[in-house]
Amino acid sequence: MSSLIKDAFSSELFRKEGHQLIDQVADYLSDCYSRKTDKAIPWKNPDDMLQFWQEKMSDENLSFGEIVAETLNNSVHLHHPRYIGHQVAVPIPYTILSEMVSALLNAGMVIYETGETSTAMEKIVTDWLCKKIGYGENSGGVLTSGGSLGNLTALLAARQKIIDYDVWEEGIKNGEDFIILVSEEAHYSISRAGKILGLGNGVVKVPADKNFQMDMAELKNLYNKFTGEKKKVIAVVASACTTSTGTYDKINEVADFCAERNLWFHIDAAHGGGVILSSKYKHLTAGIEKADSVVIDFHKMLLSPGLVTGVSFKNNNDSYSSFAQKASYLWNKDAEKEWFNIGKRTIECTKKMMSLKIFVQLKIHGEELLREYIESRYDAANEFANLIKTNSDFELLTEPQSNIVCFRFNVGGTTNEQLDSINRKIRQSMLEDGKFYIVQTIAGGRVYLRTTIMNPFTDINDFTGLLDEIRNHYKKLSV
Ligand SMILES: Cc1ncc(COP(=O)(O)O)c(C=O)c1O
Repeated sequence: MSSLIKDAFSSELFRKEGHQLIDQVADYLSDCYSRKTDKAIPWKNPDDMLQFWQEKMSDENLSFGEIVAETLNNSVHLHHPRYIGHQVAVPIPYTILSEMVSALLNAGMVIYETGETSTAMEKIVTDWLCKKIGYGENSGGVLTSGGSLGNLTALLAARQKIIDYDVWEEGIKNGEDFIILVSEEAHYSISRAGKILGLGNGVVKVPADKNFQMDMAELKNLYNKFTGEKKKVIAVVASACTTSTGTYDKINEVADFCAERNLWFHIDAAHGGGVILSSKYKHLTAGIEKADSVVIDFHKMLLSPGLVTGVSFKNNNDSYSSFAQKASYLWNKDAEKEWFNIGKRTIECTKKMMSLKIFVQLKIHGEELLREYIESRYDAANEFANLIKTNSDFELLTEPQSNIVCFRFNVGGTTNEQLDSINRKIRQSMLEDGKFYIVQTIAGGRVYLRTTIMNPFTDINDFTGLLDEIRNHYKKLSV
Protein backbone atom coordinates (compact mmCIF):
# COMPACT_ATOMS: atom_id res chain seq x y z
CA MET A 1 0.00 0.00 0.00
CA SER A 2 1.28 3.47 -0.83
CA SER A 3 2.24 5.73 2.02
CA LEU A 4 -0.20 8.29 0.58
CA ILE A 5 -3.12 6.07 1.50
CA LYS A 6 -1.61 4.99 4.82
CA ASP A 7 -0.95 8.57 5.87
CA ALA A 8 -4.39 9.78 4.80
CA PHE A 9 -6.07 7.18 7.03
CA SER A 10 -3.65 7.53 9.95
CA SER A 11 -5.36 7.40 13.34
CA GLU A 12 -2.43 9.26 14.89
CA LEU A 13 -2.82 12.08 12.39
CA PHE A 14 -6.47 12.23 13.34
CA ARG A 15 -5.61 12.38 17.04
CA LYS A 16 -3.06 15.19 16.57
CA GLU A 17 -5.12 17.34 14.20
CA GLY A 18 -8.31 16.58 16.11
CA HIS A 19 -6.94 17.86 19.42
CA GLN A 20 -5.77 21.07 17.75
CA LEU A 21 -9.09 21.48 16.02
CA ILE A 22 -11.06 21.16 19.23
CA ASP A 23 -8.89 23.84 20.87
CA GLN A 24 -9.27 26.07 17.84
CA VAL A 25 -13.08 25.71 17.82
CA ALA A 26 -13.33 26.22 21.60
CA ASP A 27 -11.33 29.48 21.25
CA TYR A 28 -13.56 30.52 18.36
CA LEU A 29 -16.68 29.94 20.46
CA SER A 30 -15.37 31.86 23.45
CA ASP A 31 -14.22 34.79 21.27
CA CYS A 32 -17.69 34.95 19.73
CA TYR A 33 -19.57 34.71 23.02
CA SER A 34 -17.38 37.35 24.68
CA ARG A 35 -17.68 39.63 21.63
CA LYS A 36 -13.87 39.70 21.39
CA THR A 37 -14.54 38.91 17.73
CA ASP A 38 -15.73 42.32 16.62
CA LYS A 39 -17.83 41.31 13.61
CA ALA A 40 -20.86 39.08 13.28
CA ILE A 41 -20.23 38.76 9.55
CA PRO A 42 -16.80 39.30 8.02
CA TRP A 43 -18.02 40.50 4.64
CA LYS A 44 -16.20 40.08 1.34
CA ASN A 45 -17.99 40.47 -1.95
CA PRO A 46 -18.31 37.21 -3.95
CA ASP A 47 -15.44 37.91 -6.38
CA ASP A 48 -13.05 38.89 -3.59
CA MET A 49 -14.00 35.78 -1.62
CA LEU A 50 -13.41 33.60 -4.66
CA GLN A 51 -10.03 35.19 -5.27
CA PHE A 52 -9.13 34.82 -1.60
CA TRP A 53 -9.76 31.08 -1.70
CA GLN A 54 -8.16 30.66 -5.12
CA GLU A 55 -4.99 32.13 -3.64
CA LYS A 56 -5.26 29.79 -0.66
CA MET A 57 -5.69 26.87 -3.05
CA SER A 58 -2.43 27.71 -4.76
CA ASP A 59 -0.55 28.20 -1.47
CA GLU A 60 1.65 25.12 -1.21
CA ASN A 61 2.30 25.50 2.51
CA LEU A 62 -1.25 25.93 3.74
CA SER A 63 -1.94 23.56 6.66
CA PHE A 64 -5.23 22.05 7.80
CA GLY A 65 -5.18 24.32 10.87
CA GLU A 66 -4.76 27.39 8.67
CA ILE A 67 -7.59 26.33 6.37
CA VAL A 68 -9.85 25.92 9.40
CA ALA A 69 -8.72 29.28 10.82
CA GLU A 70 -9.47 31.08 7.55
CA THR A 71 -12.77 29.26 7.20
CA LEU A 72 -13.78 30.46 10.65
CA ASN A 73 -12.48 33.98 9.93
CA ASN A 74 -14.41 34.20 6.68
CA SER A 75 -17.80 32.82 7.65
CA VAL A 76 -20.91 34.19 9.32
CA HIS A 77 -20.48 33.94 13.10
CA LEU A 78 -23.72 32.40 14.30
CA HIS A 79 -22.34 32.18 17.82
CA HIS A 80 -21.80 35.95 17.98
CA PRO A 81 -24.62 37.65 19.91
CA ARG A 82 -24.84 40.30 17.20
CA TYR A 83 -25.80 37.68 14.66
CA ILE A 84 -29.50 38.50 14.37
CA GLY A 85 -30.04 37.46 10.77
CA HIS A 86 -31.54 34.37 9.21
CA GLN A 87 -33.33 31.47 10.89
CA VAL A 88 -30.29 29.29 11.21
CA ALA A 89 -29.75 27.39 14.47
CA VAL A 90 -26.80 28.27 16.66
CA PRO A 91 -25.64 24.71 17.31
CA ILE A 92 -24.75 23.62 20.82
CA PRO A 93 -21.42 21.84 21.42
CA TYR A 94 -22.91 18.36 21.87
CA THR A 95 -24.70 18.53 18.52
CA ILE A 96 -21.51 19.78 16.83
CA LEU A 97 -19.51 16.90 18.31
CA SER A 98 -22.23 14.40 17.37
CA GLU A 99 -21.93 15.55 13.76
CA MET A 100 -18.32 14.42 13.77
CA VAL A 101 -19.35 10.94 14.85
CA SER A 102 -22.05 10.86 12.13
CA ALA A 103 -19.41 11.85 9.57
CA LEU A 104 -17.05 9.19 10.86
CA LEU A 105 -19.59 6.36 10.64
CA ASN A 106 -21.10 7.77 7.46
CA ALA A 107 -24.02 5.41 7.98
CA GLY A 108 -26.50 5.40 5.14
CA MET A 109 -30.12 5.11 6.10
CA VAL A 110 -31.90 3.56 3.19
CA ILE A 111 -32.28 0.15 4.78
CA TYR A 112 -31.85 -0.99 8.32
CA GLU A 113 -28.57 -2.80 7.83
CA THR A 114 -26.85 0.32 6.49
CA GLY A 115 -27.57 2.26 9.66
CA GLU A 116 -28.78 0.11 12.50
CA THR A 117 -28.22 2.60 15.32
CA SER A 118 -29.30 5.65 13.35
CA THR A 119 -32.49 3.85 12.30
CA ALA A 120 -33.41 2.97 15.87
CA MET A 121 -32.53 6.50 17.05
CA GLU A 122 -34.58 8.01 14.23
CA LYS A 123 -37.64 6.10 15.42
CA ILE A 124 -37.06 7.25 18.99
CA VAL A 125 -36.72 10.95 18.11
CA THR A 126 -39.55 10.98 15.56
CA ASP A 127 -41.83 9.17 18.04
CA TRP A 128 -40.87 11.76 20.65
CA LEU A 129 -41.78 14.56 18.24
CA CYS A 130 -45.14 12.95 17.40
CA LYS A 131 -45.92 12.67 21.11
CA LYS A 132 -45.05 16.33 21.66
CA ILE A 133 -47.31 17.32 18.78
CA GLY A 134 -50.07 15.45 20.60
CA TYR A 135 -50.53 12.67 18.06
CA GLY A 136 -51.84 9.28 19.11
CA GLU A 137 -50.52 5.76 18.77
CA ASN A 138 -50.96 5.48 15.02
CA SER A 139 -48.59 8.35 14.31
CA GLY A 140 -45.04 8.20 13.07
CA GLY A 141 -42.47 10.17 11.19
CA VAL A 142 -39.18 10.42 9.37
CA LEU A 143 -36.24 12.79 9.27
CA THR A 144 -35.43 14.56 6.01
CA SER A 145 -32.67 16.82 4.77
CA GLY A 146 -34.46 20.09 5.39
CA GLY A 147 -37.89 21.64 5.57
CA SER A 148 -38.27 22.02 1.81
CA LEU A 149 -37.85 18.29 1.37
CA GLY A 150 -40.06 17.72 4.41
CA ASN A 151 -42.89 19.77 2.92
CA LEU A 152 -42.54 17.89 -0.36
CA THR A 153 -42.60 14.52 1.44
CA ALA A 154 -45.78 15.40 3.34
CA LEU A 155 -47.55 16.81 0.28
CA LEU A 156 -46.65 13.72 -1.76
CA ALA A 157 -48.53 11.68 0.84
CA ALA A 158 -51.45 14.13 0.63
CA ARG A 159 -51.59 13.83 -3.15
CA GLN A 160 -51.61 10.05 -3.01
CA LYS A 161 -54.26 9.95 -0.29
CA ILE A 162 -56.75 12.54 -1.57
CA ILE A 163 -56.64 11.92 -5.32
CA ASP A 164 -58.83 8.92 -6.08
CA TYR A 165 -56.56 7.17 -8.55
CA ASP A 166 -53.03 5.83 -8.11
CA VAL A 167 -51.03 8.92 -9.02
CA TRP A 168 -47.77 7.22 -8.20
CA GLU A 169 -48.35 4.56 -10.87
CA GLU A 170 -50.41 6.46 -13.40
CA GLY A 171 -48.91 9.94 -13.21
CA ILE A 172 -50.92 13.08 -12.68
CA LYS A 173 -53.58 13.94 -15.22
CA ASN A 174 -54.56 17.58 -15.75
CA GLY A 175 -52.34 18.89 -12.96
CA GLU A 176 -54.10 22.19 -12.49
CA ASP A 177 -57.34 20.41 -11.69
CA PHE A 178 -55.78 19.75 -8.29
CA ILE A 179 -55.31 22.57 -5.85
CA ILE A 180 -53.30 23.19 -2.70
CA LEU A 181 -54.28 26.32 -0.81
CA VAL A 182 -51.63 28.19 1.16
CA SER A 183 -51.16 31.68 2.51
CA GLU A 184 -49.40 34.19 0.31
CA GLU A 185 -47.00 34.61 3.24
CA ALA A 186 -45.95 30.92 3.22
CA HIS A 187 -42.44 29.76 2.43
CA TYR A 188 -41.70 29.28 -1.27
CA SER A 189 -40.97 25.59 -0.78
CA ILE A 190 -44.72 24.92 -0.83
CA SER A 191 -45.14 26.37 -4.35
CA ARG A 192 -42.03 24.54 -5.40
CA ALA A 193 -43.41 21.27 -4.01
CA GLY A 194 -46.60 21.86 -6.01
CA LYS A 195 -44.60 22.19 -9.22
CA ILE A 196 -42.69 19.00 -8.42
CA LEU A 197 -45.99 17.24 -7.64
CA GLY A 198 -47.08 18.07 -11.18
CA LEU A 199 -49.78 20.55 -10.16
CA GLY A 200 -48.54 23.31 -12.45
CA ASN A 201 -50.00 26.48 -10.99
CA GLY A 202 -52.17 24.42 -8.67
CA VAL A 203 -50.62 25.86 -5.52
CA VAL A 204 -52.83 28.88 -4.99
CA LYS A 205 -51.95 31.73 -2.66
CA VAL A 206 -54.62 32.79 -0.20
CA PRO A 207 -54.37 36.50 0.66
CA ALA A 208 -53.19 37.29 4.17
CA ASP A 209 -54.96 39.71 6.50
CA LYS A 210 -53.43 42.85 8.00
CA ASN A 211 -51.70 40.72 10.65
CA PHE A 212 -50.05 38.56 7.96
CA GLN A 213 -52.20 35.53 8.87
CA MET A 214 -54.00 33.54 6.19
CA ASP A 215 -57.38 35.23 5.73
CA MET A 216 -60.02 32.61 6.56
CA ALA A 217 -62.77 34.29 4.54
CA GLU A 218 -60.49 34.34 1.49
CA LEU A 219 -59.65 30.69 2.08
CA LYS A 220 -63.34 29.82 2.01
CA ASN A 221 -63.95 31.94 -1.11
CA LEU A 222 -61.12 30.30 -3.01
CA TYR A 223 -62.20 26.82 -1.94
CA ASN A 224 -65.77 27.50 -3.15
CA LYS A 225 -64.49 28.98 -6.39
CA PHE A 226 -62.35 25.95 -7.22
CA THR A 227 -64.89 23.33 -6.22
CA GLY A 228 -67.45 25.29 -8.31
CA GLU A 229 -65.07 24.89 -11.25
CA LYS A 230 -64.96 21.12 -10.56
CA LYS A 231 -61.36 21.30 -9.41
CA LYS A 232 -60.26 19.11 -6.53
CA VAL A 233 -58.72 20.82 -3.55
CA ILE A 234 -56.23 18.37 -2.07
CA ALA A 235 -54.79 20.19 0.90
CA VAL A 236 -54.51 23.37 2.89
CA VAL A 237 -51.12 24.35 4.29
CA ALA A 238 -50.84 26.54 7.37
CA SER A 239 -47.63 28.26 8.45
CA ALA A 240 -46.38 28.12 12.02
CA CYS A 241 -44.83 30.53 11.60
CA THR A 242 -44.26 32.44 8.36
CA THR A 243 -40.71 33.06 7.26
CA SER A 244 -40.90 36.75 6.63
CA THR A 245 -42.77 38.13 9.64
CA GLY A 246 -42.85 35.12 11.99
CA THR A 247 -46.66 34.99 12.09
CA TYR A 248 -48.68 31.90 13.07
CA ASP A 249 -51.76 31.04 11.01
CA LYS A 250 -54.95 30.18 12.91
CA ILE A 251 -54.27 26.47 13.22
CA ASN A 252 -57.53 25.45 14.91
CA GLU A 253 -59.65 27.28 12.35
CA VAL A 254 -57.76 25.82 9.41
CA ALA A 255 -58.02 22.35 11.01
CA ASP A 256 -61.80 22.63 11.30
CA PHE A 257 -62.03 23.95 7.75
CA CYS A 258 -60.13 20.92 6.44
CA ALA A 259 -62.00 18.38 8.59
CA GLU A 260 -65.37 19.63 7.32
CA ARG A 261 -64.26 19.19 3.70
CA ASN A 262 -62.09 16.09 3.95
CA LEU A 263 -58.91 17.92 2.94
CA TRP A 264 -55.38 17.07 3.94
CA PHE A 265 -54.16 19.54 6.53
CA HIS A 266 -50.42 20.17 6.51
CA ILE A 267 -48.57 22.54 8.82
CA ASP A 268 -45.24 24.01 7.83
CA ALA A 269 -43.88 24.56 11.33
CA ALA A 270 -40.28 24.49 10.14
CA HIS A 271 -39.37 27.56 12.15
CA GLY A 272 -41.92 27.91 14.92
CA GLY A 273 -43.00 24.35 15.68
CA GLY A 274 -40.73 24.20 18.72
CA VAL A 275 -43.31 26.11 20.78
CA ILE A 276 -45.05 22.77 21.36
CA LEU A 277 -42.42 22.36 24.09
CA SER A 278 -43.35 25.58 25.87
CA SER A 279 -46.36 26.02 28.13
CA LYS A 280 -45.92 29.78 27.66
CA TYR A 281 -46.06 29.80 23.86
CA LYS A 282 -47.74 26.52 22.83
CA HIS A 283 -51.08 28.35 22.43
CA LEU A 284 -49.65 29.65 19.13
CA THR A 285 -49.99 26.15 17.65
CA ALA A 286 -53.18 25.13 19.46
CA GLY A 287 -54.83 22.47 17.31
CA ILE A 288 -51.56 21.23 15.78
CA GLU A 289 -52.48 17.63 16.67
CA LYS A 290 -55.37 17.84 14.20
CA ALA A 291 -53.00 18.20 11.23
CA ASP A 292 -52.39 15.21 8.99
CA SER A 293 -48.73 16.16 8.73
CA VAL A 294 -46.36 18.60 10.38
CA VAL A 295 -42.84 19.68 9.45
CA ILE A 296 -40.47 20.94 12.14
CA ASP A 297 -36.82 21.85 11.47
CA PHE A 298 -34.34 20.91 14.16
CA HIS A 299 -31.81 23.16 12.42
CA LYS A 300 -33.85 26.28 13.06
CA MET A 301 -35.15 26.64 16.63
CA LEU A 302 -34.01 23.28 18.03
CA LEU A 303 -30.27 23.96 18.30
CA SER A 304 -29.01 21.38 15.78
CA PRO A 305 -26.66 21.85 12.87
CA GLY A 306 -28.40 21.32 9.54
CA LEU A 307 -29.95 19.72 7.90
CA VAL A 308 -32.48 17.79 9.95
CA THR A 309 -36.22 18.05 9.73
CA GLY A 310 -38.92 16.02 11.45
CA VAL A 311 -41.84 15.11 9.19
CA SER A 312 -44.61 13.80 11.42
CA PHE A 313 -47.76 12.05 10.25
CA LYS A 314 -50.94 11.66 12.30
CA ASN A 315 -51.41 8.33 10.59
CA ASN A 316 -48.06 6.70 10.04
CA ASN A 317 -49.45 4.51 7.24
CA ASP A 318 -49.79 7.67 5.14
CA SER A 319 -46.04 8.16 5.24
CA TYR A 320 -45.59 4.98 3.16
CA SER A 321 -47.57 6.41 0.29
CA SER A 322 -45.20 9.36 -0.35
CA PHE A 323 -42.85 7.02 -2.20
CA ALA A 324 -44.88 3.97 -3.15
CA GLN A 325 -42.03 2.61 -5.19
CA LYS A 326 -40.73 -0.87 -5.74
CA ALA A 327 -37.00 -1.46 -5.13
CA SER A 328 -36.55 -5.18 -4.85
CA TYR A 329 -32.78 -4.97 -4.73
CA LEU A 330 -33.13 -3.19 -1.39
CA TRP A 331 -36.05 -4.78 0.37
CA ASN A 332 -37.81 -8.07 -0.13
CA LYS A 333 -41.36 -7.02 0.55
CA ASP A 334 -42.25 -3.74 -1.14
CA ALA A 335 -45.70 -3.56 0.36
CA GLU A 336 -44.67 -4.22 3.94
CA LYS A 337 -44.82 -1.23 6.25
CA GLU A 338 -41.98 -2.17 8.59
CA TRP A 339 -40.66 0.74 10.65
CA PHE A 340 -37.00 0.02 10.09
CA ASN A 341 -36.48 0.39 6.33
CA ILE A 342 -36.71 4.16 6.40
CA GLY A 343 -35.74 4.63 2.75
CA LYS A 344 -39.27 3.52 1.83
CA ARG A 345 -40.52 6.78 3.24
CA THR A 346 -37.88 9.34 2.27
CA ILE A 347 -36.59 10.79 -0.96
CA GLU A 348 -33.03 10.26 0.20
CA CYS A 349 -31.38 6.95 -0.60
CA THR A 350 -28.12 7.54 1.21
CA LYS A 351 -29.11 9.74 4.12
CA LYS A 352 -26.94 11.23 6.82
CA MET A 353 -27.11 9.83 10.33
CA MET A 354 -29.21 12.77 11.45
CA SER A 355 -30.80 11.24 14.49
CA LEU A 356 -27.67 11.02 16.67
CA LYS A 357 -27.38 14.74 17.36
CA ILE A 358 -31.05 14.95 18.36
CA PHE A 359 -30.82 11.83 20.50
CA VAL A 360 -27.73 13.26 22.22
CA GLN A 361 -29.29 16.67 22.80
CA LEU A 362 -32.46 15.15 24.24
CA LYS A 363 -30.60 12.66 26.40
CA ILE A 364 -27.95 15.03 27.76
CA HIS A 365 -29.81 18.35 28.03
CA GLY A 366 -33.42 17.22 27.75
CA GLU A 367 -36.44 19.13 26.53
CA GLU A 368 -35.87 21.70 29.25
CA LEU A 369 -33.00 23.33 27.36
CA LEU A 370 -35.10 23.64 24.21
CA ARG A 371 -38.01 25.08 26.16
CA GLU A 372 -35.81 27.62 27.93
CA TYR A 373 -34.08 28.59 24.71
CA ILE A 374 -37.30 29.10 22.75
CA GLU A 375 -39.01 31.04 25.52
CA SER A 376 -36.00 33.28 26.08
CA ARG A 377 -35.74 34.12 22.37
CA TYR A 378 -39.47 34.79 21.99
CA ASP A 379 -39.34 36.95 25.14
CA ALA A 380 -36.32 38.80 23.74
CA ALA A 381 -38.26 39.56 20.55
CA ASN A 382 -41.00 41.21 22.62
CA GLU A 383 -38.37 43.20 24.49
CA PHE A 384 -36.86 44.36 21.22
CA ALA A 385 -40.26 45.28 19.80
CA ASN A 386 -40.99 47.38 22.89
CA LEU A 387 -37.66 49.14 22.49
CA ILE A 388 -38.44 49.93 18.85
CA LYS A 389 -41.79 51.40 19.88
CA THR A 390 -40.11 53.81 22.30
CA ASN A 391 -37.76 55.13 19.60
CA SER A 392 -39.64 57.53 17.40
CA ASP A 393 -37.23 57.23 14.48
CA PHE A 394 -38.12 53.54 14.15
CA GLU A 395 -41.35 51.87 13.14
CA LEU A 396 -42.36 48.32 14.10
CA LEU A 397 -44.06 46.39 11.30
CA THR A 398 -46.20 44.20 13.53
CA GLU A 399 -46.20 42.85 17.09
CA PRO A 400 -43.92 39.80 17.00
CA GLN A 401 -45.49 36.42 17.66
CA SER A 402 -42.16 34.60 17.45
CA ASN A 403 -38.48 35.58 17.56
CA ILE A 404 -38.72 37.36 14.20
CA VAL A 405 -38.98 41.16 14.41
CA CYS A 406 -39.44 43.40 11.37
CA PHE A 407 -39.10 47.16 11.52
CA ARG A 408 -37.79 50.09 9.55
CA PHE A 409 -35.88 53.27 10.12
CA ASN A 410 -38.21 56.19 9.55
CA VAL A 411 -37.23 59.74 10.41
CA GLY A 412 -40.39 61.03 8.75
CA GLY A 413 -40.85 63.50 5.93
CA THR A 414 -40.17 60.90 3.25
CA THR A 415 -42.23 58.92 0.79
CA ASN A 416 -42.54 55.16 1.10
CA GLU A 417 -40.29 54.76 -1.93
CA GLN A 418 -37.59 56.87 -0.28
CA LEU A 419 -37.98 54.84 2.90
CA ASP A 420 -37.53 51.63 0.92
CA SER A 421 -34.35 52.97 -0.58
CA ILE A 422 -33.00 54.27 2.75
CA ASN A 423 -33.63 50.97 4.54
CA ARG A 424 -32.14 48.96 1.70
CA LYS A 425 -29.01 51.11 1.72
CA ILE A 426 -28.68 50.95 5.51
CA ARG A 427 -28.91 47.17 5.46
CA GLN A 428 -26.29 46.88 2.65
CA SER A 429 -23.97 49.26 4.45
CA MET A 430 -24.36 47.24 7.68
CA LEU A 431 -23.68 44.00 5.84
CA GLU A 432 -20.43 45.36 4.44
CA ASP A 433 -19.44 46.71 7.84
CA GLY A 434 -20.28 43.44 9.60
CA LYS A 435 -20.68 44.49 13.26
CA PHE A 436 -24.29 43.28 13.25
CA TYR A 437 -25.82 40.80 10.87
CA ILE A 438 -29.45 41.62 10.05
CA VAL A 439 -31.44 40.94 6.88
CA GLN A 440 -34.33 42.55 5.05
CA THR A 441 -37.73 41.55 3.79
CA ILE A 442 -40.65 42.89 1.80
CA ALA A 443 -43.89 43.15 3.76
CA GLY A 444 -47.03 44.78 2.43
CA GLY A 445 -44.96 45.75 -0.61
CA ARG A 446 -42.44 47.76 1.43
CA VAL A 447 -38.86 47.14 2.53
CA TYR A 448 -38.30 46.29 6.20
CA LEU A 449 -35.27 45.37 8.21
CA ARG A 450 -35.70 41.86 9.55
CA THR A 451 -34.11 40.29 12.57
CA THR A 452 -34.40 36.74 13.85
CA ILE A 453 -33.17 36.46 17.40
CA MET A 454 -31.47 33.09 17.20
CA ASN A 455 -28.38 33.64 19.31
CA PRO A 456 -29.02 32.74 22.97
CA PHE A 457 -26.86 35.61 24.23
CA THR A 458 -28.30 38.54 22.27
CA ASP A 459 -29.64 40.93 24.89
CA ILE A 460 -31.13 44.37 25.36
CA ASN A 461 -27.70 46.05 25.05
CA ASP A 462 -27.29 44.49 21.63
CA PHE A 463 -30.74 45.76 20.63
CA THR A 464 -29.92 49.29 21.79
CA GLY A 465 -26.56 49.01 20.03
CA LEU A 466 -28.30 47.86 16.86
CA LEU A 467 -30.62 50.87 16.73
CA ASP A 468 -27.64 53.19 17.30
CA GLU A 469 -25.70 51.41 14.60
CA ILE A 470 -28.57 51.85 12.15
CA ARG A 471 -28.64 55.58 12.93
CA ASN A 472 -24.86 55.75 12.38
CA HIS A 473 -25.16 54.10 9.01
CA TYR A 474 -27.97 56.45 8.04
CA LYS A 475 -25.78 59.44 8.96
CA LYS A 476 -22.84 57.97 7.04
CA LEU A 477 -25.01 57.49 3.97
CA SER A 478 -26.49 60.96 4.21
CA VAL A 479 -23.17 62.83 4.16
C1 LIG B 1 -41.50 28.34 7.18
C2 LIG B 1 -40.39 27.66 6.42
N1 LIG B 1 -40.63 26.52 5.78
C3 LIG B 1 -39.67 25.87 5.10
C4 LIG B 1 -38.39 26.39 5.02
C5 LIG B 1 -37.36 25.64 4.24
O1 LIG B 1 -36.58 24.91 5.12
P1 LIG B 1 -35.13 24.35 4.67
O2 LIG B 1 -34.27 25.54 4.50
O3 LIG B 1 -34.75 23.50 5.83
O4 LIG B 1 -35.31 23.58 3.41
C6 LIG B 1 -38.09 27.60 5.66
C7 LIG B 1 -36.75 28.17 5.57
O5 LIG B 1 -36.46 29.26 5.94
C8 LIG B 1 -39.11 28.24 6.39
O6 LIG B 1 -38.89 29.39 7.03
